[in-house]
Amino acid sequence: MSGPLVLGIETSCDETGIGIVRGRELLANVIASSMDEHARYGGVVPEVAARAHLEALEPTLREALDTAGVTLDELDGIAVTSGPGLSGALMVGIGAAKGLALATGKPLYAVNHLVGHVGADVLRADGSELELPTIALLVSGGHTSLLHVRDLLSDVELLGETIDDAAGEAFDKVARLLGLGYPGGPRIDEAAASGDPAAIRFPRGLTQPKDLERHRYDFSFSGLKTAVARWVEQRQDAGEHVPVADVAASFRESVADVLTAKAIAACVDRGVPRLLLGGGVAANARIRGLAQERADAAGVELRVPPLSLCTDNGAMIAAVGAGLIAAGRAPSGLGFGADSTLP
Ligand code: KG4
Ligand code: ZN
Repeated sequence: MSGPLVLGIETSCDETGIGIVRGRELLANVIASSMDEHARYGGVVPEVAARAHLEALEPTLREALDTAGVTLDELDGIAVTSGPGLSGALMVGIGAAKGLALATGKPLYAVNHLVGHVGADVLRADGSELELPTIALLVSGGHTSLLHVRDLLSDVELLGETIDDAAGEAFDKVARLLGLGYPGGPRIDEAAASGDPAAIRFPRGLTQPKDLERHRYDFSFSGLKTAVARWVEQRQDAGEHVPVADVAASFRESVADVLTAKAIAACVDRGVPRLLLGGGVAANARIRGLAQERADAAGVELRVPPLSLCTDNGAMIAAVGAGLIAAGRAPSGLGFGADSTLP
């Protein structure tokens, strides 16, 4: 395989990710996570994340270069996440990328984090092509976004997003109130496995007819979180046992139901027979299962990249950078800043 040799830097949240690709070939994907440091707060603390990136960047970069067996001199370009994300965290990666670009004279490309999640698909080991257009559902601790992607580099439409908490955040908060620990997603998945998803009917955010008029493709999870908290408190106040597995399964069902229903609705409305899942929450067993069921029923092809490419990583940013170079796009220069609210 051939193509531009690109280094990608991702520091938008709590993962310091450095990836190296040659065109569509993945050469290195090294990730240092500061998750353990955030665990005691039950969520990502921006200041802690920024400091952790500062410490992790250089060793992560060295490991990625070693793994790929390349030197900085050989690179055709450098790509870095410019947003959306935590601004302090983004600035660490952008500063590093600009320093490298300045020192090596290599062209620098600013990459949108959400586009990176979609771009990760081109690095799949099975070599199968992502056909466009596609609908993409990106769900993580930092974002919950539904995109209509016609061209990865020039035509990405944001159809909807969360109006309050991200889906992963909801998993983390509910896990904490159930005493399951952090990160919440995997803990809830585990607990839910032995629970009854129909035990409690928790609310489905923004799915009432009046909500759908304005928020057809938007999500809301804070009401769900409050409903779970209230349900648990009432049991506790009454001195009753809290059936953790049933609560976890019923909560997970609500999230999976809303996410997959809206994503498939977007495919049907837009006449797009493809759905791509990305982000850490795409690891969720029920979300994957229900998405597959509903995709099959609607005649939609479901694509879920391997988890190492679903969660935040530098390789996906490098892959978009390689696409930009291959398409002959002009570099971003050194003047751009961190845009925490892109696109
Ligand atoms: O993409 P990611 O690694 O980092 C960002 O937040 O950008 O996603 C982390 C999020 C956390 O909120 C975590 O609880 C959630 O993904 N997560 C899951 C699962 N595994 C991780 N959520 C639901 N089910 C899972 N199995
Ligand atoms: Zn992400």
